[in-house]
Amino acid sequence: MSSRHVSKGLWNNLMRNNVDLGLASIIYEIGVASKYIVHAMRTGDLGLAGTSNLYGEQQLALDVLANEIIKDRLDHTGQVKCFASEEMDNFLIFERKGPKQFSVVIDPLDGSSLVDVNLSVGTIVGIYKSDSVINIGRNLSGAVYVVYGPRTTLVYSTGNGVFEFTLNSLGEFVLTAENIQLKSSHKIYSIGGLRSQCYDNHIRFLNYLESNSYKLRYSGGFVADINQLLLKGGGIFTYPATKKDTNGKLRLLFELNPMAYLIENAGGFASNGEMPILDIQPESIDQREPVYIGSKEEVLIAEKFLKGESI
Ligand code: F6P
Ligand code: MN
Repeated sequence: MSSRHVSKGLWNNLMRNNVDLGLASIIYEIGVASKYIVHAMRTGDLGLAGTSNLYGEQQLALDVLANEIIKDRLDHTGQVKCFASEEMDNFLIFERKGPKQFSVVIDPLDGSSLVDVNLSVGTIVGIYKSDSVINIGRNLSGAVYVVYGPRTTLVYSTGNGVFEFTLNSLGEFVLTAENIQLKSSHKIYSIGGLRSQCYDNHIRFLNYLESNSYKLRYSGGFVADINQLLLKGGGIFTYPATKKDTNGKLRLLFELNPMAYLIENAGGFASNGEMPILDIQPESIDQREPVYIGSKEEVLIAEKFLKGESI
């Protein structure tokens, strides 16, 4: 076949990148699950005919429904042993027979409260070749996120480049960006947390960004905000420790580790202000951490401000 006809589909890309078959089928199934999630979001909550019964009799909240959809798809692969989700109090061991060499952590519908106001939301997934879901992020075998926005896009890495796919009208994920790289510095910033609750060193960092002409870009949805940094070439996202939430708001296992893995694979960096996010040993499933993530230079500058140093 001539190179003009080489498929740009997700499965083909996974195979061309020599991704382990088990890992590839997990990533592919996340893509399949995301189509059902899109369908539920577009129609389910409006109560249109034939939608509420797709996954059970009851009309479920969208984030719970997204969790059920992904859980079922992953179970069917026979590749997943242990599964943990931001929507569940405890992890789950899948009973199905199969090689089951992987464990998966998910935030099924990040930013779900934004669906009502029609802003972008997303799914975040981390995959470990392990029996357990409690691992340092450095041990991830792969990570994926899906953005449900004007377009549905899926971004994945298995440690060998970061790739973006866009869902087309035939229901296929088609490659739209490959080997995505962040610039070492870029003037976009995205900040969570109430300023009145922030510690002085963090405020000094924000003042630095503002007096150096950084553009504010914050949607209130972590996936969309990180996706913006990744595809616009860099910048910084932070959700800091505050006096109210001394460990910040975002979850280490479900949100920060997969995103830190993707950002590091794109040449960026993620820190809790003191150490790399990917090196933090989790002590509990629902652990939270402050986060500074994006282009290397901005994250290192943030670390300096937090130590009380000047730039
Ligand atoms: O999952 C938590 C989340 O919804 C993220 O998507 C987002 O970054 C953050 O919370 C927004 O928090 P806040 O409303 O405090 O800015
Ligand atoms: Mn979330």
